[in-house]
Amino acid sequence: MKTVEEIRRDFPILSLKVNGRPLVYLDNAASSQKPIQVLNAYCRFCESRYANVHRGVHTLAETATGDYEEARKTLADLVQADARGVVFTRGTTESINLVAQSYGRKFIKHGQAILMTPMEHHANLVPWQVLARAVGAELRFWPLNQDGTLDMVEGRKLLDARVAMVAVAHVSNVLGTINPVREIVEMAHRVGAKVLVDGAQAAPHMPVNLSEIGADFYAFSGHKMCGSTGIGVLYGRPEILEDMDPFMTGGEMIREVWLDHATWNEIPHKFEAGTPPITEAISIAAAARYLQEIGMDWIHAHDTMLTARAWELLAAEPGVTLYGPAGERGALVTFNVAGVHPHDLAALLDRDGIAIRAGHHCAQPLHRWLGVQATARASFYLYNTPEEVDALLEGVRAAKKVLQLV
Ligand SMILES: Cc1ncc(COP(=O)(O)O)c(C=O)c1O
Repeated sequence: MKTVEEIRRDFPILSLKVNGRPLVYLDNAASSQKPIQVLNAYCRFCESRYANVHRGVHTLAETATGDYEEARKTLADLVQADARGVVFTRGTTESINLVAQSYGRKFIKHGQAILMTPMEHHANLVPWQVLARAVGAELRFWPLNQDGTLDMVEGRKLLDARVAMVAVAHVSNVLGTINPVREIVEMAHRVGAKVLVDGAQAAPHMPVNLSEIGADFYAFSGHKMCGSTGIGVLYGRPEILEDMDPFMTGGEMIREVWLDHATWNEIPHKFEAGTPPITEAISIAAAARYLQEIGMDWIHAHDTMLTARAWELLAAEPGVTLYGPAGERGALVTFNVAGVHPHDLAALLDRDGIAIRAGHHCAQPLHRWLGVQATARASFYLYNTPEEVDALLEGVRAAKKVLQLV
């Protein structure tokens, strides 16, 4: 078992100085850093195994195809799912758009409803708005409790036989709320609705067992879990993927093409039109192996410890408002400091080498619900330390002094 110090040595960028100060990287919910194991896997693949996949008979084409399909199995293993249901996409956003278009346009009918929550990232909101407008479906929103958890009693009332799809975040990227997705899936299936879970903030941070959760669709991104950008996963239950129309069309996703029509390849290839993100798939698989070697349970416990410490310290700091539930939560804290715009806070922290995110975090409706335009967010990962959480608090205090609030 590696220590956090050893883990940190795996990430070259963490030895960087920013503005003359050691980098304290607390923007992991936006994108995480990459360990040398992932960078090496990417380089090795490009140096000695690279070719296009699924189309050549030469040695390298076969090697690359083998590695690419092995990457799919690695990702299936990470979330305990059937590899036939693992579609490589460009990321969570594309995964959700794929479902909204390929499933939604075919199966969600005029007068049916799509049930979401006000805490969704725009990626799990806007595609459903567009679909609803196109097919004449109704949008419904699962109410929140004051602390930013889902109101399970009121939500249940909205789940009637007209609901065709429930689209919900596993972990909110602003509130940190961990939603009871297994329970939601059970409730939705009872009324015949399908469920898409946005796992962008969950899959990188905690063990995810899709055979237990039972979701029909589950989406996440490589760049938030130590892999590269430009790759993500859509898991879809194979029997549902079989019935869906393709998302994009062109090469690779076909079985046979005539001048006036075509037939589709088997799943998951039916949803991977064109040359797929091959090197990125190698990268996300190396990242998944790296995370599994450290242990998803360990990562979850480590993140939880850091988040609890940050919550406790910031909650005790005068002028700080924290958002979301106080107890069990995802690996982030979102807050405001009275009298300080979050952008100013982020800029002042940056002078101390501390990277946090400020803004609406692609969740404008949620910020309206919170009654603020913007928030500051510090988000943690396996390589962060308690000392970095303390540095965040010191940075917040220093910012208050600079702005003469104390
Ligand atoms: C909860 C959630 N969903 C979706 C996304 C979109 O992910 P991507 O930009 O990788 O497509 C994010 C990214 O911040 C997120 O936090």
